[in-house]
Amino acid sequence: MKHKLIVGNWKMNGSMQSSLELVDKIITHNSPAPGDKISPHYVICPPAVYLQELNKVINKSVVKLGAQDVSEYANGAYTGQVAAEMLKDIGCDYVIIGHSERRQYCGETDEMIARKFLAALAQNITPILCVGESLEAREANQTEKIILGQLNAVIDIVGAEKFAEGVIAYEPIWAIGTGKTASPEQAQEVHAAIRTLLISKLPKEIARKMMILYGGSVKASNAASLFVMPDIDGALVGGASLDAKDFLGIGEAAKMPHTN
Ligand code: PGA
Repeated sequence: MKHKLIVGNWKMNGSMQSSLELVDKIITHNSPAPGDKISPHYVICPPAVYLQELNKVINKSVVKLGAQDVSEYANGAYTGQVAAEMLKDIGCDYVIIGHSERRQYCGETDEMIARKFLAALAQNITPILCVGESLEAREANQTEKIILGQLNAVIDIVGAEKFAEGVIAYEPIWAIGTGKTASPEQAQEVHAAIRTLLISKLPKEIARKMMILYGGSVKASNAASLFVMPDIDGALVGGASLDAKDFLGIGEAAKMPHTN
């Protein structure tokens, strides 16, 4: 059975003080005794400026640290950008890539996202690749085409073998921050299509091992119904990750057994 992965995307929220308090609550809840099985696995992705300070607290815990973005370049004259090597330097093990907010507000293309994916892997940072369709695309029955297109665009550039080192997050844009979660069946349908794509590109056991997270208004109250779906391996959580009780509640739901 796979351990579920619960990732908190704090976006551009909080202060140094509130971030330290939130991390403290998450870590206190996740202090396993030696020999305890760690389930689920937690990753938090705070704003970049707080990563280094939070790592001082987090690196003694089982919780992992992630960034919300990374430069596609290794170093150089790229004002305002942060390189993967720098993220590794301050303790990041994960990075969110291609979030729909960055695709929309920062004009990130599939090609840029693929280069960010490779930049992260080059530093042993696990990329969490976000894909998702708009409401118009869903209503026009284009969901699968859009999602598989976004994934194939990255696979074509990075290659299937390297792609398998990442994590996928399916986040329908219409469900992000709207309170409208995809139904477990709607999410599973897309996750199953993603799994089928992976199986067509990779050895079966590797394709099955790849983590496919769901994101979009995940809360403690709806997490369990999503997590019983066979291809939902965890969650990428925005709003509810800013409240320790809500975030840990999602983690509690992830302790339920996987059905496959
Ligand atoms: P949400 O955000 O949980 O607030 O909908 C999810 C995300 O954008 O990653």
